[in-house]
Amino acid sequence: MRRGSIVQLVLLGVLFGAGAAAVAIFVPWLPDPASEQADRIDFVFWFVTVICIAIFALVAAVIVYSLLKFRARPDDDSDGPPVHGHTGLEIVWTAVPAVLVTAISIVSAIVLARNDHLPSASAAGGQKDPLKPLVVQVIAQQFAWLFKYPAYGNATSSTLRLPLHVPVDLRLKSLDVIHSFWVPEFGQKQDAVPGLDTHVVVTPKRLGTFPVICTELCGLGHAVMRSWTTVMPRQDFVSWANRQKGAAAGGASGSGTAAAKTIFVNNGCNGCHTFKPAGANGKVGPDLDKLSESAKTAGQPLDDFIRQSIVDPNAYIAPGYPRGVMPETFSSLPKEQLDALVKYLSGGSK
Ligand code: CUA
Repeated sequence: MRRGSIVQLVLLGVLFGAGAAAVAIFVPWLPDPASEQADRIDFVFWFVTVICIAIFALVAAVIVYSLLKFRARPDDDSDGPPVHGHTGLEIVWTAVPAVLVTAISIVSAIVLARNDHLPSASAAGGQKDPLKPLVVQVIAQQFAWLFKYPAYGNATSSTLRLPLHVPVDLRLKSLDVIHSFWVPEFGQKQDAVPGLDTHVVVTPKRLGTFPVICTELCGLGHAVMRSWTTVMPRQDFVSWANRQKGAAAGGASGSGTAAAKTIFVNNGCNGCHTFKPAGANGKVGPDLDKLSESAKTAGQPLDDFIRQSIVDPNAYIAPGYPRGVMPETFSSLPKEQLDALVKYLSGGSK
């Protein structure tokens, strides 16, 4: 091979490599990572991408060089020279991909294992630190998410709040069909399968609010099965969680209207309903200021009507509203919170 040919090949390789690298770097393929797990996944992504760009540049350069150099002239009807195998070349093109694929699988296996790793709960003075790790139950149901904090009196929230730099064990549960939990910035997806306990570990490393998306086709409302996750400074999270715990406990002792209001807002009721005592003015569902009239129309005692409408929203549909819009996830609210909510709503509409 002449020196000129090698220079041409190398130039073509650099050209194609630069083009492919530009596509990889300048197109925003992945969101900015917000968890330690996403960082590791990004590392695997770039590791594989660099290998792919090198192979692409090599193959593209050889193909284009051959097309230009060895194309048949218009008047050339002769056969090409007979070529048999080339043992050296065959060994190289078998060995190199074998090494690369093995390297990719080793890197992936390490990242998968580390992303699944959860530091074991440490007991300090007999008192378990709820943040090592933080356990959050993620309850999926057509078509809503509910997040429950067992370490904080089973307080629930319709948005996921997480402390910064704390490993979180998200325990997924589905009450009906298969859903899938996905926060693009956290880098991982995990299915919520009825009858099966799945989990995913997330260690948030960046403050912010990110979308929670259901990424398994689960029915007509699949596209709207979304929520938000907010990563907060550790101290802010602890005081928020303790307030929720207080609200849940206040509901249990039947004391606090403020506690019940927190439950109302945390579970997103205000997003869809109008209810003056909570300052809510949602228009998706029925007006909760008129609950006593609705109970009369439905022919039920007020408290029973409210309770049923929360846990089994399709049992009675208010005239003029479509069936199946209100999520059924609230049936998994702890009893104390449900009682507090019923009391709060019946009190506000009398
Ligand atoms: Cu739940 Cu899609």
